[in-house]
Amino acid sequence: MEIERIKRSLPSTPAFVYEESRILAALSVLAQARAVCGLKILYSVKALPLTTVLELIGPRVDGFSVSSLFEARLGAEFLKGAGTLHLTTPGLRAEELKEIAGLCDFISLNSLEHHRRFCPSIRGLASTGLRINPQLSFLDDPRYDPCRRFSNLGVPLQRLKQILDDRTLDPDSIEGLHFHTAYGSHSFEPLQRTVAHIEKHLGDLLAAARWINLGGGYVFGPHSDLAGLIEVVERLQNRWRLDVYFEPGRGIVGKAGHLVASVLDVFEADGKRVAILDTTVNHHPEVFAYRTRPQLAGESTGGAHAAILAGCTCVSGDVFGEYRFAEPVVPGDRVVFENVGAYSLVKANRFNGYNFPLLYAVDVDRRVRLVKQYDYEDYRRQWTA
Ligand SMILES: Cc1ncc(COP(=O)(O)O)c(C=O)c1O
Repeated sequence: MEIERIKRSLPSTPAFVYEESRILAALSVLAQARAVCGLKILYSVKALPLTTVLELIGPRVDGFSVSSLFEARLGAEFLKGAGTLHLTTPGLRAEELKEIAGLCDFISLNSLEHHRRFCPSIRGLASTGLRINPQLSFLDDPRYDPCRRFSNLGVPLQRLKQILDDRTLDPDSIEGLHFHTAYGSHSFEPLQRTVAHIEKHLGDLLAAARWINLGGGYVFGPHSDLAGLIEVVERLQNRWRLDVYFEPGRGIVGKAGHLVASVLDVFEADGKRVAILDTTVNHHPEVFAYRTRPQLAGESTGGAHAAILAGCTCVSGDVFGEYRFAEPVVPGDRVVFENVGAYSLVKANRFNGYNFPLLYAVDVDRRVRLVKQYDYEDYRRQWTA
């Protein structure tokens, strides 16, 4: 198995490894939708802004989507003008606006207040849209539900409807609409229902707009049924004459990334076996933040030997989860967390002074190459005042 080979071939751990072929496989799924209906694909840089990844993805998409000035600078540099740059963020700042508008082709403002304040400065530089909160939740955890009550993300649909009805908002002042409401969804049903909901309530805005950005939040593979996505795109194009953008991050890089770690120590605690790894949940903080249990390569679900895989820092919650193995876990064993290509490295930190993982790429010819390594000097530079 490829993961076994990669695991054995690494000289040292912890290591974050991404497989280029898996990124290309995800992009080829999207290329089908692009070919059938002209959907424009953006890579959401926030998921993994590693420049070797941007170089791989850039020529195969219609652009990048970014969330800040730094991401915009990096995105623009690696797109090299061959694609469009889209930004949405609640954190827009007046003093950065000029540079952002110079770099980005599309800016979706997060609130009516930002729309009122920033539109005049952006006009003529970038196309301005509005991020809307359709107020239609598909997630039961408010930590990652952009449609939760009192949301910080986008203008609530009811508020928009009200000001359109009052005629205090001119629909022609909004060139595009943006929404992002899903999280790791395998089905496009949330997208279909959200678009139907927007059509029902905000037809005036759709009629006046030139483009719509469907956000990200969907995961897909070679066997995914894209019919739901294609149907939505064609409806938005045919009924409302819109250019349609889709900006996945996790769907493109999630399955491509693995975190490889070694067992440093094993002991019993209250009758359970605890294995301490040379990695930590700080190398994949969503494990801690969202209480997820990452997938372990080759896990033997019926295995006779259980072990709690824990990280190496001082936090009692530095735990990946309890897993089963065919053989007892012993120091020196290597384990691989799969499907961690998105939102791991980019959120990683060096708490307790533990270094970031080594970064490796596996190219399409299956060669494993080191792409980046951090050392003590990087850590020292961060904390030298
Ligand atoms: C506005 C926006 N677009 C796209 C994405 C990418 O989402 P995902 O990586 O789940 O596809 C995010 C993720 O947070 C987002 O906030």
